[in-house]
Amino acid sequence: MKKKVLAIVGSPRKNGNSVSMVKEALQAFSDKEYEKEIIYLRDYKYRSCIGCEKCAGDKRCPVNDDMQKVYPVLEKADAIIFASPVYNYNITSWMKAFIDRLYCYYDWSEDRRSWKSALGKNRPIGLLVVGEQDDTQHMGFALEAMKLPLKDLEFKIAGELVVTGKFEAGVVKDDEDAMRKAYELGLGLRQHLT
Ligand SMILES: Cc1cc2nc3c(=O)[nH]c(=O)nc-3n(C[C@H](O)[C@H](O)[C@H](O)COP(=O)(O)O)c2cc1C
Repeated sequence: MKKKVLAIVGSPRKNGNSVSMVKEALQAFSDKEYEKEIIYLRDYKYRSCIGCEKCAGDKRCPVNDDMQKVYPVLEKADAIIFASPVYNYNITSWMKAFIDRLYCYYDWSEDRRSWKSALGKNRPIGLLVVGEQDDTQHMGFALEAMKLPLKDLEFKIAGELVVTGKFEAGVVKDDEDAMRKAYELGLGLRQHLT
C-alpha cells in the first residue's frame, strides 16, 4: 500500500514561501510509492477550540465544522509536514487554531496527570517556518509554537527548518540554499518511512 505524506499549510498565500518550500520538500517523495496531499488551512472553515472538554470523554471533537474533514486525512497520514509563516512572532492563527483542535487526540489518564496520544507514538513530522526578518529573534515563538504541542502529541520531529529574510510571496524559490534545505527536510522525513 502507498505511504501517505500530508502537508498542512498555515499560510494564506498559496503562492507563498511556505508553500514553495512544502512543494520542494514533497519532491523527495516523487516516486509512485507515495501519495501526497497538501491541506491549505485557509480553504477550511473551522473554529478555535471551544474548551468544552467533551473530547476527553467522547474521544472525538464535537465541533461540527471542516475539521471533521481533516481529522480522517490526518489520521491516515504516515508522515506530515507542518508549515507556517511567522505572524507577529508566532505561527498564523490558522495554524494555531488547527493545533488547538488536535486536543481531541489526548487520551488522558483518569487523574489527568498523564496522557497518551490517540494518534499513536512516533509518527514522523517535519516543521517549517518562514519569516521576513533576518534575525531569528524576530521569528519569536513560531517554531516552538508547533514543536511543543506536537511533541506532546507524541509525534516524532524528523526535521525542522527555519528560513529568515523572505517577505514577498515565493521569493524563497530564488534562494538555492533554503530550497535545498526544504528538499532535505523531505528526505529526512522519508527516511522514517522505510
Ligand atoms: C500579519 C503579519 C505579521 C507578520 N509578522 C512577522 C514577524 O513577526 N516576523 C517576521 O519575520 N515576519 C513577519 N511577517 C512576514 C511573513 O512571515 C513573511 O512575509 C513570510 O515570508 C510569509 O510567508 P508565506 O509567503 O508563506 O505566507 C508577517 C507578515 C504578516 C502578514
